[in-house]
Amino acid sequence: MMPFIDLATQRERIREQLDATLSKIINEGRYIFGPEVTELETRLAEFGQASHALTCANGTDAISLPLMAWEIGPGDAVFVPSFTFASTAEVVALLGATPVFVDILPDTYCMDPDSLAASIEWAKGEPGLTPRAVIAVDLFGQPADYPAISTLARSNGLKLIADSAQGFGCTLNDQHPVAWADIATVSFYPAKPLGCYGDGGAVLTNDDELAHLIKSLRNHGEGEARYAYDRIGMNSRLDTLQAGVLLAKLDVFADEINGRNRGAALYRRGLSNAVKTPVVIDGGVSVWAQYTIEVADRDGFRAKLGEAGVPTAVYYPVPIHVQQPYAKYPQAPGGLPATEAAMSRVVSLPMDAYLESGRGAQVVEAVRNAL
Ligand SMILES: Cc1ncc(COP(=O)(O)O)c(C=O)c1O
Repeated sequence: MMPFIDLATQRERIREQLDATLSKIINEGRYIFGPEVTELETRLAEFGQASHALTCANGTDAISLPLMAWEIGPGDAVFVPSFTFASTAEVVALLGATPVFVDILPDTYCMDPDSLAASIEWAKGEPGLTPRAVIAVDLFGQPADYPAISTLARSNGLKLIADSAQGFGCTLNDQHPVAWADIATVSFYPAKPLGCYGDGGAVLTNDDELAHLIKSLRNHGEGEARYAYDRIGMNSRLDTLQAGVLLAKLDVFADEINGRNRGAALYRRGLSNAVKTPVVIDGGVSVWAQYTIEVADRDGFRAKLGEAGVPTAVYYPVPIHVQQPYAKYPQAPGGLPATEAAMSRVVSLPMDAYLESGRGAQVVEAVRNAL
């Protein structure tokens, strides 16, 4: 079976720098908030066109931190898609606020601005519920419709988070999501386009005050003096070794984004006349966290691909709003028909920056045969 994500080729490519950086960190012994963490934050801010980048322990905490900074809690409504990884809604519920599930656009799988508008109107009329924030997700690595979503957020006085856990590096009209959002949040989970060798995350923002609050919140609510606390925070730091891994990977990341786009183009050329291939928003550049197609008989299709040595994955077989812990939370007026239609048809193919070595062609052939 070929790998679903070829991390080995990348590892060999960066091996020399990785070994040098990691052994320096081990020898210097500054394992928490070492100089590599600061260097990484500077480089992430530069890459993502933001005035601040702050690392944290994972992409889930990265979403919690701004919600905590804005003191979002019981009685507050936060609008989220359901066709996403659990974290997007989980952090809202964990803070005691109410996730309101919004539908997606059937072609891009990102938040549907019309469904968002209807959900905001509904929540405004709901006693005991105050609309506070929107979390748009850059699903599968492509930017959500930020011009439309940010207009809705601003006109309703709502904060906007770009959950770019899967999408760090994606752009819309040459701008990163933080150009529209109050904050963009990132995951460095190993399978992400920019992944470390464990858990990791970051936030990017142009809001000085928000950055100041998150810097405190990610380290137990620390104040100016050591062991003096200004607020209740959390332990959410990226350790220095993971920063070292990310620094080595960041050197090749822009080139890898191009490689991923060439892989996606190879798939599109080979498959678009046979199956529904991904649609990227006009003006958008995806980082292709996943390459997701739609098929009718998904189980049969996956079995045939498996026999041909091609692994597949399903993101996501069950959307969040129908899962037991989340079923009590409100949904967009009109429900989530696009989410429910996608969940039984989507299947993702192997994707990384190194598909041109022959693996991409092998996948195309296997998919065509299976169809
Ligand atoms: C859309 C989305 N949001 C949030 C997360 C959470 O990131 P992490 O696993 O680093 O906590 C993920 C990662 O799986 C994700 O895909």
